Amino acid sequence: MSILIVYATKHGATGKCASILKERLAGDVSLHDLKSASKPDLSKYDKVIIGGSIYAGRIQKAVSEFCNENINFLKEKKLGLYICCMFMDSAEIQLKNAFPEELLNSAAVKESFGGEMIFSDMNFFEKTLTKIVTKTIAKSNPKLAGIDPKKDVSMLVEENINRFVQVMNGK
Ligand SMILES: Cc1cc2nc3c(=O)[nH]c(=O)nc-3n(C[C@H](O)[C@H](O)[C@H](O)COP(=O)(O)O)c2cc1C
Repeated sequence: MSILIVYATKHGATGKCASILKERLAGDVSLHDLKSASKPDLSKYDKVIIGGSIYAGRIQKAVSEFCNENINFLKEKKLGLYICCMFMDSAEIQLKNAFPEELLNSAAVKESFGGEMIFSDMNFFEKTLTKIVTKTIAKSNPKLAGIDPKKDVSMLVEENINRFVQVMNGK
């Protein structure tokens, strides 16, 4: 089985998840970062996974464009969709808004993998914005209350990643 993982990442979390999936999936797995100028040849793959991360409630434009440009091809594949995001209370709605409805309906599995805040990779503006956003969200989500912008934070949800792998490894 050949599998393609197409992803977009800003600070690395979605890319890290793509690499974790590559390690755990059975078959010949290729990674494609949407930053790359080349376009993957979808006809070569039996299964396709698409991942992106959420900023201000939205997935990267490159992910939306890839989905829309290839929608008919993607509907014919065994498809997995994932997002990386920190606000797990709104993960379901963010996931629903991230991908076209047709793909959400045809996907074998769709998951939120949680997220990471890689402050060491952020510029001053991003750090300040993140501090404000997490402070606001922390009022309703105590798990985010302890986030210290001096330390990188990883809140990936192993259980969700493993469930996703299990479905994609099936026929
Ligand atoms: C400026 C900023 C805005 C964010 N907005 C959201 C958001 O609206 N919802 C959410 O769940 N997570 C949000 N996040 C968290 C990211 O989705 C999370 O850090 C993710 O792991 C980033 O993945 P990446 O490094 O692959 O881009 C935001 C993070 C930053 C820095």
